Amino acid sequence: MSISRILEKPCLDRGDLMQLLAVRGEAMQQLWKKALAVKLEKLDNHIHLRGLIELSNQCRKACLYCGVRGPNRKVARYRLTEEEVLACAQTAWQLGYGSVAIQAGERNDEPFTDSITRLIEKIKAIGNGALGITLSLGEQSEAVYRRWFEAGAHRYLLRIESSTEELYYKIHPHDGLHDFHRRLDCIDALMATGYQTGTGVMIGLPFQTLEHLADDLLFFRKKDVAMVGMGPYIPHPDTPLYAHAAQIPTAGERMNLTLNMIAILRLMMPEINMVAATANQTIDPMGREKAILAGANVIMPNLTPNRYREEYLIYPDKACVNDRPEECFSCLETRMKGIGHEILYNAWGDSVAFTKKQTKNNP
Ligand code: 5AD
Ligand code: FES
Repeated sequence: MSISRILEKPCLDRGDLMQLLAVRGEAMQQLWKKALAVKLEKLDNHIHLRGLIELSNQCRKACLYCGVRGPNRKVARYRLTEEEVLACAQTAWQLGYGSVAIQAGERNDEPFTDSITRLIEKIKAIGNGALGITLSLGEQSEAVYRRWFEAGAHRYLLRIESSTEELYYKIHPHDGLHDFHRRLDCIDALMATGYQTGTGVMIGLPFQTLEHLADDLLFFRKKDVAMVGMGPYIPHPDTPLYAHAAQIPTAGERMNLTLNMIAILRLMMPEINMVAATANQTIDPMGREKAILAGANVIMPNLTPNRYREEYLIYPDKACVNDRPEECFSCLETRMKGIGHEILYNAWGDSVAFTKKQTKNNP
């Protein structure tokens, strides 16, 4: 079937998805253009910002791809103080970012989970609840998810990394600590708690096929998530998965695949929030812009104090590591204008898909 015929179908099936993922050249441009048109029609040219605070690189897990995995002894472990986090949040508020996203390696001890509850309450006090709060703090018990939600967090990101169990265990240790089904349960628990829940995958992993990626797209649709974050896999030399780096697609190819994933998902789920991940910009200087033009609508500028950023290198050569918040601010403004997009300041920028679903369920 020609690409134009597939793009007209109201509901894409697995075969359609695989065909679309494989398009290159003119057909690929056509796919991205259609996704951009759908996004502009449904969500306008608006970009939402989440000021990213990389709270800590302490991590109890050992994901085989991740540079800050617990067993990596080359990383100096840090944890921001409460004052440092609140200063980041103040900066976000002053710059008009509207929301912050708190990300960290995984810890689930009580001193940690309690400190997060207190932090959420204090961030909520800034500007009288002006800032939206997204958490990205890994797998936790339902009770902890609820406590953080009640304290004022309202979005949560937990990437499934791969929706195929077999691939999941090729990129994570197969032990009690890394459990595919527990991860699925966590996503369900987050949705049941009431969070705008986001998930996502890495693209261009060793062992990953187009079938896996098509199934990831179907997984996002089946779960009816509010947000998705996807980015290219970037091999990190101090991780076990690096041994397979020679067999992954080239950076250009991983970029094309990522943009195709974003564009296809925009067609499948027109009103979700989709982030233009920093990993895109790391493998291509225009990666973030390209992601926006293929259907993404959220950017997460980094607010972490610069002296800690070198220690939060999930993957090498991360973009913007040396930029100060004010620099990122004006850089983003110019870059987004340059591609005909407008940053919405002082707004939470909730997922339209989520808001509509909530109104439907509680009229
Ligand atoms: N390359 C790209 N993305 C990575 N992540 C972790 N390690 C890498 C890597 N080497 C992503 C994971 C995780 C998110 C915080 O960063 O998807 O969920
Ligand atoms: Fe814990 Fe990556 S393995 S943050």
